[in-house]
Amino acid sequence: MADPGGRPPVTGAEEELLAEHRRIRDLTRQIETVSDLRELLRLLQDFRALLVPHFLAEEGTDGFYEIIRRMSPRQLALADALEREHFAFLVEIDRVAERARACLAGPVAAVLAEARMLAHRVTEHEAREDNLLLDTMYVDLGHGD
Ligand SMILES: [Fe+2]
Repeated sequence: MADPGGRPPVTGAEEELLAEHRRIRDLTRQIETVSDLRELLRLLQDFRALLVPHFLAEEGTDGFYEIIRRMSPRQLALADALEREHFAFLVEIDRVAERARACLAGPVAAVLAEARMLAHRVTEHEAREDNLLLDTMYVDLGHGD
């Protein structure tokens, strides 16, 4: 039976698929706006964990693609193209995650090490100034007695 808008009613399986697509969309939005590489890695891990079973279910027997092919042969080419993208997405997730890990271990780690070294040098500089001041006050001016 069609709803007032003329669309067929949504079944439980379709509802579940749409809910999964909403969860995926939530994660894609977070990935689009994240600026921290460690956070990005965490999101990509969640993304992969969500997409792998989702893609498998869509590709499986009586899954989304089989149903579409059965019900709408004119959509065959589009269904094939979309299904092929699944594997490419997983490869791309792994590639981006590897780049993030390489940046964290390489350039990011190097910049953080430089910042730590700079902070250490400034701390030592200020400590030497403290010693200079105290030495002058207590030894040269004799305020230590
Ligand atoms: Fe999907």
